[in-house]
Amino acid sequence: MPEIRLNNVTKRFGKAVAVDNLDLTIKDGEFVTLLGPSGCGKTTTLRMIAGLETPTEGEIFIDDVCVFSSEKGIDISPDKRNVGFLFQNYALWPHMTVYKNIAFGLENMKWDKERIEARVKELLGLLRIDEFIDRYPAELSGGQQQRVAIARTLATGPKVLLMDEPLSNLDAKLRMEMRTELKRLHLETDSTFVYVTHDQLEAMTLSSKICLLKEGVLQQFEPPLDIYHYPANFFVADFVGSPNINIFEVTGTNVNLDEVKLEHPKMNFLFAPTSSSITIQEDQELLLGIRPEDISLGGEGQITGNVYSTLPSGMETIVKIDLDGAIITCVVFGGVDFSVGEEIKLSFPGDKYVLFDKKTAKNIAGGKLL
Ligand SMILES: Nc1ncnc2c1ncn2[C@@H]1O[C@H](COP(=O)(O)OP(=O)(O)O)[C@@H](O)[C@H]1O
Ligand SMILES: [Mg+2]
Repeated sequence: MPEIRLNNVTKRFGKAVAVDNLDLTIKDGEFVTLLGPSGCGKTTTLRMIAGLETPTEGEIFIDDVCVFSSEKGIDISPDKRNVGFLFQNYALWPHMTVYKNIAFGLENMKWDKERIEARVKELLGLLRIDEFIDRYPAELSGGQQQRVAIARTLATGPKVLLMDEPLSNLDAKLRMEMRTELKRLHLETDSTFVYVTHDQLEAMTLSSKICLLKEGVLQQFEPPLDIYHYPANFFVADFVGSPNINIFEVTGTNVNLDEVKLEHPKMNFLFAPTSSSITIQEDQELLLGIRPEDISLGGEGQITGNVYSTLPSGMETIVKIDLDGAIITCVVFGGVDFSVGEEIKLSFPGDKYVLFDKKTAKNIAGGKLL
């Protein structure tokens, strides 16, 4: 199974840099998502891997074969890269049945009839759409059409499957269902998946690794939970997680090598980094990141606030608390609710609070709040 390697890949459109010196190794069998806001270079990166877009500079390897090199003048055509694509607008052929839609590519490749039939049936089973074999696309729901499109892409057995926001046209419930199916499909096909999305939740739940891009520049390439708990910088921390991470502008001063005093106009904290020591410059400006679920409400509590708003969903409640003008968002699991205006105590029992340098936005330490 193939590994995909990008070495210093840059794509410029005129003067605009869409992808900036990207180094990325996608290991065999991984499910990697390219994540980031609109315009950050996700589609361009995917298209360069596919061979549909020519990089301005750099090298791309698939399965140890150089498929593109600006220096050596190599540019292998898309059909010879053994990759399958699935795009947002996956239009099936309306005048062909499900069977024919899936078989078409194989017929073009001159597979014999029995082999095609066996392959199509295998795919129909894999995607759980056997019963629709004789239907036309117009007779299928959006989700069923999507499955046919996936089956069509998988038909020739590509070693790499490239997908660009394939679920974005589906409604929320169906999207959720298709996520499950895609993850299962990944395991069953044993292929390498590269998946583009701007939806952080989709990236978190699907991927073995997330490649987070901002303005064409790689921010972090790690498994989802590492991205979530150990964000490389403020941008990453803010991009993943819903509700968003709470950020407080604080001034830091070393109390000793393993404790930093954090001062905020409304509250003070003592921060103890997980790594053994930390050195802060005198009165260094920092950002303190606190995930909403890392705040405990009620009980003893380090600080006191008043409930500002509450959004109970049954499974969890999102509570905003007013700390004398500073609003902090908390998530409480279970069917609990609070009254607006109610006084409430907050404590911080977790060990994954994050400090960023305000100037560089870089993560300088994770740790506890004492
Ligand atoms: N064919 C093109 N010509 C000029 N600019 C382009 C072209 N394709 C993409 N871009 C620009 O490159 C940047 C990255 O685009 P894209 O890869 O489509 O972003 P994403 O998929 O992350 O939304 C954007 O600023 C976009 O406007
Ligand atoms: Mg795109």
